[in-house]
Amino acid sequence: AAPVTYQSENATISQGVVESNHAGFTGTGFVNFDNVTGSYVEYTVNAAQAGTHSLTFRYANGTTANRPVNVTINGNPGVSNLAFPGTGAWTSWQSVTTNVTLAAGDNVIRTTATTANGGPNADSLTV
Ligand code: GCU
Ligand code: CA
Ligand code: CA
Repeated sequence: AAPVTYQSENATISQGVVESNHAGFTGTGFVNFDNVTGSYVEYTVNAAQAGTHSLTFRYANGTTANRPVNVTINGNPGVSNLAFPGTGAWTSWQSVTTNVTLAAGDNVIRTTATTANGGPNADSLTV
């Protein structure tokens, strides 16, 4: 199916804020995860067919430390500690892609920071 992009600033956010102070984002901004373990951004995405789908996260990480997140699908474990390496600057945006299994219809994809640094700045998720 044709890719669909879900903007992080429209997602459900726990312990994070929508900001727009670092250029290069798409849509109207990005989510700045609070720098704590457990902060999350949760997307509801639609899959026409059950099975394997790629998730592409667009993000920035202006530090030199990885900002891993756990990816859960409908509350079930998906990908543990998906890596979001440094991008060189908060205005340098890159993509990370991973494959997951989705159900047909709506799926809740939660990305939860696993370190005290929080997640990266999150721009969007393309499915
Ligand atoms: C800076 C930056 C934020 C970022 C934060 C962080 O404050 O401006 O966009 O989220 O660092 O380290 O997480
Ligand atoms: Ca942050
Ligand atoms: Ca965005």
